[in-house]
Amino acid sequence: MAIKADPIAEIMALAYEVAGINLAESKRSMVEGRLAKRLRELDCDACEYLTRVRKDPKELSAMLDLLTTNHTAWRREPDHFDDFERRVLPTIAKARKGASRPTLRIWCAAAATGEEPWTIALSLIRAIPDIEKWDVAMLATDISTRALGKANAGRYDAGRIAALSSADRDLAVDLAEAGPPVMYSVKPQLRSLVNFARLNLMESWPMRGPFDCIFCRNVMIYFDQKTQERLVNRMAGLLAKGGTLYVGHSESLSAINHPLKAIGPATYVA
Ligand SMILES: C[S@@+](CC[C@H](N)C(=O)[O-])C[C@H]1O[C@@H](n2cnc3c(N)ncnc32)[C@H](O)[C@@H]1O
Repeated sequence: MAIKADPIAEIMALAYEVAGINLAESKRSMVEGRLAKRLRELDCDACEYLTRVRKDPKELSAMLDLLTTNHTAWRREPDHFDDFERRVLPTIAKARKGASRPTLRIWCAAAATGEEPWTIALSLIRAIPDIEKWDVAMLATDISTRALGKANAGRYDAGRIAALSSADRDLAVDLAEAGPPVMYSVKPQLRSLVNFARLNLMESWPMRGPFDCIFCRNVMIYFDQKTQERLVNRMAGLLAKGGTLYVGHSESLSAINHPLKAIGPATYVA
């Protein structure tokens, strides 16, 4: 068997190869720290772990769970939801007025633990009073099965929903446990609007679009410029004419070639 001189470097290279996650050498101690518990559980060293993840897709997926950063929040970067409610949804509602069952297709491409797609669903019920008459499909995807498990459960403590006004809280969640800790559960109306699925943005996508809106926020920071350019162009190809792509506020697309028009902070239109 070949001797692996630097298994941590190879693990970082594997994360890049499989998931596009660009872990610079400066992230080495973060990687070691995040894998340490798993190595103890499996009673193996980094070399043995590398061999294992190369052979076992389930362990590779578990490794990606550990190496991804799933930080998110309800109403994170709230001006996007303001734009979505004030520009995107009224424009679509006007264009589709008269349809017996107007369609709406949304993709939340890095849904993490669910706060973002649930906030989008909250915007939908706030902005479209007769939403139950619409044919809405929101796909919420992420590479992390662990994060998606939490997203699907849709249970959050009081701290997680603190960004919501009391009116939005009443629309979005039910009290699930009086606590402590007090726990809230996403309401069935919001749940009926969202479908979660695992999707690696670096692989082929089963969806054909077109999407009226794609939220791909705060994931491209982990990718290099070449990967970002490829991703944005693939997403542009899935947007309906006039459709909107939101990226994270720190993810300017100014350095990459793409066909979209910037119309506001981290907001692009096809
Ligand atoms: C920092 S969170 C952003 C969550 C949310 N979009 C937001 O803005 O609050 C980044 C998410 O991207 C996901 N991710 C990283 N690489 C990915 C890939 N190749 N395919 C799909 N999701 C990926 C991570 O699992 C993580 O949940």
